[in-house]
Amino acid sequence: MENKISKIGVFTSGGDAPGMNAALRAVVRASIYYNKEVYGIMRGYEGMIDEEIVKLGARSVGNILQRGGTILKTARSETFRTKEGREKAFRNLKKHGINGLVAIGGDGTFTGLHKFYEEFNLPSICIPGTIDNDLAGTDFTIGFDTSTNTAVEAIDKIRDTALSHNRLFFIEVMGRNSGYIAINSGIAGGAVASIIPEETLTMDELFNKLDEGGKTNRKSSLVVVAEGSKMGGAMELAKKFSERNNYFDIKVTILGHLQRGGAPSYFDRVLASKMGVAAVEGLINGQTDVMVGIRNNVIVYNKFSDVINHRHEIDSELIRIAKILSI
Ligand code: F6P
Repeated sequence: MENKISKIGVFTSGGDAPGMNAALRAVVRASIYYNKEVYGIMRGYEGMIDEEIVKLGARSVGNILQRGGTILKTARSETFRTKEGREKAFRNLKKHGINGLVAIGGDGTFTGLHKFYEEFNLPSICIPGTIDNDLAGTDFTIGFDTSTNTAVEAIDKIRDTALSHNRLFFIEVMGRNSGYIAINSGIAGGAVASIIPEETLTMDELFNKLDEGGKTNRKSSLVVVAEGSKMGGAMELAKKFSERNNYFDIKVTILGHLQRGGAPSYFDRVLASKMGVAAVEGLINGQTDVMVGIRNNVIVYNKFSDVINHRHEIDSELIRIAKILSI
């Protein structure tokens, strides 16, 4: 059943992810398509509190589909965690007549939105935008594909120099507590191992694997390390490993924030476009306090309780494949 939403506010929050602009464009254009007014809120919850709210039109989001980052800017807001901050934010939205919200961000964004919905009953929907792919309820988050491609491109380049010098590289990738970027970029980049938070590999097992390679004439090796690995980051692993190693000259590369930048891939642009339209249509059709997701290529709406405090389980098939291919 259609509800009375007439003015939609949209914002990006948390870490930026490639494809956020494509999602924003889709939200703005779908809103206008359905004859709704649409307002951009700058710097996430911070701009809601500081009343940085601008009216957007179809042309305001022209030429942003292919751009990384977010033209609305983003922030991780401490003030929004306070009751006073949220009250101020609500007053500002009310002043502009905003009666529906679309947030583009990760789990922190959705948690804030849920609290806001509970307190003020403002219809709201979250679009998952994070490179980490760590949200339950969706097979993919916006930005994950692009950042993994970026990691793979970097790994390929490191391989050239690793081979030329017979070196072992520990390459650290982002993902917070999720191993999605690490396991996928490890397989795609031909790493001998991907160290991920979801798997409990021991230092001995890793050492034996690399040692075997050394003995069977593997002259160079790449190990991808998820930043959230329980065995430590790339620096720590390299240090531990160098105490026992007889074969390799060891180097470390931490890819860091370069994984967040750049033009979104075709996949992220299409995903963002689908999710942006779904968010607006969901809001108009009475969905609230939900996150848009994609499961088996079908758009779904997930309740807050089905997303937060649930892990996006790593695909165990990927772990199996990585093991078979890294002999
Ligand atoms: O959530 C996205 C992410 O890039 C994580 O992979 C990383 O751990 C974190 O954000 C870094 O946050 P910041 O940019 O605030 O340092």
